[in-house]
Amino acid sequence: MSNRLKIAVFASGNGSNFTSIVDFSSHSQSSFEVVLLICDRPQAKVINRAKQAGIPTFVFSPKQYESKEQFESEIVQKLHVAGVQFIALAGYMRLIGKTLLEEYKQRIVNIHPSLLPKFPGKDAVGQALQKGVSETGATVHYVDEGMDTGPIIAQQSVPIPPNSDRDDVQAIIQQVEHQLYPQVLHELCKKVMEGAKS
Ligand code: GAR
Repeated sequence: MSNRLKIAVFASGNGSNFTSIVDFSSHSQSSFEVVLLICDRPQAKVINRAKQAGIPTFVFSPKQYESKEQFESEIVQKLHVAGVQFIALAGYMRLIGKTLLEEYKQRIVNIHPSLLPKFPGKDAVGQALQKGVSETGATVHYVDEGMDTGPIIAQQSVPIPPNSDRDDVQAIIQQVEHQLYPQVLHELCKKVMEGAKS
């Protein structure tokens, strides 16, 4: 077995978290390497980031499939070919279905821009601003069939400065995400590899 766990990142948009994960994996101490990007939006910026980093990509359009089961079966095939052992969702704006959950039990994690269980689902930053809270944050959690409902692994809070708009708060949260997510993935992948050895 290689001394790094092979991971896939799933993303739908800009991909700043994808880049922070890939950058971390270039350190010799990293317990994981990114071997595949899965993207469900053919126009997403993250695809270009993967190209620049030399990371293979599987891009698909969900509407070209009859069901979630059908496209997830194809994803599972791609993951197997690439030898993927662990999955990190990073701005993948789609619920994970049974096909993937059963194949990668306890091996799929997500990052969400709030202190879950507060503000799950879309536009977590907008929800926080609307509520007028003075702090929010980022959460890394295991993925289950619900919307941002799986067991929490790590959280970090950030204050919301007065008069902040959505872009300000998003930038503050993403700064935290870019540190927190790769570090948590590193710890989790280390544990998975230690478990495989014993
Ligand atoms: C991240 O802030 C992530 O927490 C959020 O999407 C953003 C993606 O940014 N995810 C969710 O809202 C999931 N419910 P990025 O494409 O620049 O990494």
